[in-house]
Amino acid sequence: MNASDVATLLEDSPEWGIFRIDRRAFEDPEVFELEMQHVFEANWVFLGHASQAPKPNDYFTTWLGRAPVVVMRDMEGRLNAFINSCPHKRATLFHSASGNARVKVCRYHGWAFDSSGRNKLVKAREAGAYAEAFNQADHNLQAVARFGNYRGMLFGTLNPKAIDLEEYLGDARTMLDLMIDQSPDGIELVPGVVKYTFEGNWKFQLENCSDGYHFTSTHSSFLGLVEQRARNAKQTGGVKTVWHNNRPWESSDAKLGTFSFEHGHSLLWSSQVNLDNHPLIGRLQELQERVGSDRAKWMFANRSSTIFPNLQIAENAASQLRVMRPISATRTEMTTYCFGPVGESREARAQRIRQYEDFFNPSGLATPDDTVAYEDCQLGYSAPTRQRQLGYMRGGTVTSAEPNAHARELGIRPVASVEGAIELYDETLMRTSYRVWHRHLVEGARRNAAACKGEQA
Ligand code: FES
Ligand SMILES: [Fe+2]
Repeated sequence: MNASDVATLLEDSPEWGIFRIDRRAFEDPEVFELEMQHVFEANWVFLGHASQAPKPNDYFTTWLGRAPVVVMRDMEGRLNAFINSCPHKRATLFHSASGNARVKVCRYHGWAFDSSGRNKLVKAREAGAYAEAFNQADHNLQAVARFGNYRGMLFGTLNPKAIDLEEYLGDARTMLDLMIDQSPDGIELVPGVVKYTFEGNWKFQLENCSDGYHFTSTHSSFLGLVEQRARNAKQTGGVKTVWHNNRPWESSDAKLGTFSFEHGHSLLWSSQVNLDNHPLIGRLQELQERVGSDRAKWMFANRSSTIFPNLQIAENAASQLRVMRPISATRTEMTTYCFGPVGESREARAQRIRQYEDFFNPSGLATPDDTVAYEDCQLGYSAPTRQRQLGYMRGGTVTSAEPNAHARELGIRPVASVEGAIELYDETLMRTSYRVWHRHLVEGARRNAAACKGEQA
C-alpha cells in the first residue's frame, strides 16, 4: 500500500464536521503490517508494571509489536528489557509468563545467560572450531532499543530515535499520577492475570475505552442486574448505606467530559460515581491531605484512560489495566490485571476484587458484551461497501482546543477538551488517536517507499 493509498484511510475535514475511516483500516493485512512497523514498533508501548518483577532475578514476558520481550530485574535490582530470543538460532528463551532465574539456559542448544542478559556459556565452545568472526560477535541478549520507567509503569520501544518517554506521555502523565498517587507507596497489580482473544481488529478495543455511548445499551443486562440486586437487598433489609458527609463530587455535578492528548492518549471521565461503594472512600481525608482536594476529587471520578497505542486504565466499575496485542488485522489478544493502591485495607481490597470479577473479563458481566460488539463490527466491516461509518461525530460542536476549567484544575493542556451532560457521550476524543495513527502510517509508508528506492538504486 503506497503513501497516497494510506492517506485515503482517513477523511478528516473539521470545517465540515466530517471524520470517517475507511473499512480497510479494520481488516486489511497491509494496514496491519504498517501498524506493526510504524505504530507498535516505532513508538513507546506499555510492557508491564514493576511489581511484576519485584525481586532480583525476577522476570516476566510480554510483547513489543511482533517482538517477544522479557523484562528482567538483574542481581543489583535494576530492570531491563530484552528481545526474548536466543542469539544462537533465535529460539525464544523464556516460556513462562513470569518467574525467577539467576541464570537462564536455552532449551535448544544449552547457551546460558544471566539476569542482566549477559551470555555466560556457549556450550562446548572450545571444541567448536569457531572462526574469529564468531568470537567478535555479540553473544548477549539484545536489549530493546529504549526502555523507560514512569513511576513503575514500564515502557519500551524498538526505535532508538524515539522521543523521551516523559515527552511521549506528555500531560497524560497526570492520568497515571491520579492512579499511582492513590497510595504514598504507589499501586501494585493484584496477583492473577487474565488473557483472552477476540476475532476483531485491535482498534475496536482502542475505541471502546473512550466510548461512553455504548454503556446503557451494550451493558443493559448488567444494569438490570444491579437494579435487581438493589431491590432484593431492600426487601431483605440487607442494604448498608454508608453516608459520607465529606463527598468529593456532589450529585448535582453530574457531568461527562473528555481530554485528548498530543501523542494519541485520551481520557473519558464522568462525575456520576457511586461513592458509597468506592474502595477508596475510607481514605478520602488522607488523600485530600496528601494530594490536595482537587486531585483527590479526580481520583473518585469515573476515568477511562488510554495511553496510545496499547494501554488502557479503567477506573470505573473497578480498577483494571488492559494491554492490547494485535495478532492480525482481525484478531486481538487482551491481557488484563486488577490493580490497587499498596497498603489498602483487606476490606477495601476484597471489595475491589469482587467489583472487578463482577464487571470485567470473559467471566464478568460486561466484557463479553463488549467483545461480541467488536466481532459484530468486524463482520459489518467485511461488507464491500463504500459507505463509511458515523461513529466519531458526537461532541463535534463542543470540542475546544483551549483547556477548560477541569483541565486548568488539573494543570494540564490537552489538545482538545469536551464537557457536557452525561448523555453527551463525546466521540471526538477518538479522533486524536486516529489522527496520530494516520500520521504514523502515512509517514511510515513514505519511508518504506524511500528505502525501497534506495535499495533498487
Ligand atoms: S537456539 Fe538457543 S542455544 Fe541454540
Ligand atoms: Fe463496555
